[in-house]
Amino acid sequence: MSYVKIEGGTKLEGELSLQGSKNGVLPILAACILCKGRVILKNCPDISDVRDILYTLSFAGVTSTFKEGCLDLDTTDAFPYRFGPELACKTRGGVLLLGACWGRFHEAGMAYPGGCVIGARPIDLHCRVFRQLGATLSEKPEGVFLCGCPEGGRVVLPYPSVGATENAVLAAVCAKGNTVIYGAAREPEVAELCRFLNRAGAKICGIGTSRIGIEGVRGLRGTEYTVSGDRIVAGTYLAAAAVTGGEVCLCGTRHVCMKGIAEYFGRMGNRIYREADRIVINAPKRLKAVPGIVTAPYPAFPTDMQSLTVAMLATAEGDSCVEETVFESRFGVVPELQRMGADIQRNGQSVYIRGMERLQGTTVTAMDLRSGAALVLAGLAAEGETCVDGYEYIARGYEDICGTMRRLGAKTVLAEEK
Ligand code: UD1
Repeated sequence: MSYVKIEGGTKLEGELSLQGSKNGVLPILAACILCKGRVILKNCPDISDVRDILYTLSFAGVTSTFKEGCLDLDTTDAFPYRFGPELACKTRGGVLLLGACWGRFHEAGMAYPGGCVIGARPIDLHCRVFRQLGATLSEKPEGVFLCGCPEGGRVVLPYPSVGATENAVLAAVCAKGNTVIYGAAREPEVAELCRFLNRAGAKICGIGTSRIGIEGVRGLRGTEYTVSGDRIVAGTYLAAAAVTGGEVCLCGTRHVCMKGIAEYFGRMGNRIYREADRIVINAPKRLKAVPGIVTAPYPAFPTDMQSLTVAMLATAEGDSCVEETVFESRFGVVPELQRMGADIQRNGQSVYIRGMERLQGTTVTAMDLRSGAALVLAGLAAEGETCVDGYEYIARGYEDICGTMRRLGAKTVLAEEK
């Protein structure tokens, strides 16, 4: 098992190019199934979630080569495959293969993706949209099975689930009739999926709104597409600059939407400015507390930034409060930060943070992807050495976090447990 070793106390300074978006590319990889041909994806992040989906897709006859950020996929000879638990549980993004496979083959099956440490993560909304689009759906102990031709129709989402919206779009683009999705998630990653599909021949309108219209087409073709930069990874490196009082410039951010994030970073006393393809952060000596941050669906503050923000505020001046409304168990970072000396009290879905001058380095454990990155941030702001166990979580979404931080002057190394 690998862990991240951090020697805290160094100001982060310099320039980085931003990696491609994880949550942007995962639904696109599912969408490739519908393209029946060759797809070339540029700026594809080299992260384990992408490798896991490619492995899963290989069982359904999808071939791929991945070199220097360019992914070349061929789905011409893909065939229907029932994904078992060993594949379904690898990454949550795999659930999107259901909509895509059903859209192309008119049958699909997958074991339940299962719970995870940030919450139960059921798939009831996914099943609901498939039924609304005309699926004959059976939920068995071994998984979910879909058959019948996607008809299209009226899809109503009682909650703007990102994954259920993406599955609805994937299942509807090649449906017999037209579809309108009401209450759709408006996250930029949903919009990115729609833009990719339109490039491949889909007819989607209302992109980026809560009402998405889809005219069913006969089939999609292969295409070439450049994946946008990752807004949460951007937030992570900006946060790393912020907790160390540094100054960092992120390049490759032209289409990266920082709505909801940049505003709160500003309230903490950071100066953030954008010019053309770059975002620059100039952090104060010490961050200021922010009393009321509430995570919610886009365009509000993203839940994926929550653990990172709690870590930032642990050393801010004053008292802060962060409320999590998207996932019910996403405070795994709190006990670990407490072990580093942070003064944080949890009450239900809220945490109250009394900012400390400094945290103390120690050994802590990542419970999920973002809590892992948050602990690396805490290590940068701490006195002495911090070891973050559970690197495999971090590798799901960050390309070489240690090397990237080092380029900004951080003392971070990836070490192997003996
Ligand atoms: C996606 C992102 C994840 C992000 C989340 C919210 C990917 C691969 N992952 O996850 O990084 O944190 O959006 O922005 O894009 N829910 C149900 N039933 C369902 C589906 C969801 O109750 O059928 C609940 C979930 O348990 C959760 C909430 O709805 O409490 C939000 O989930 P959802 O928006 O679906 O997130 P994901 O698509 O899983």
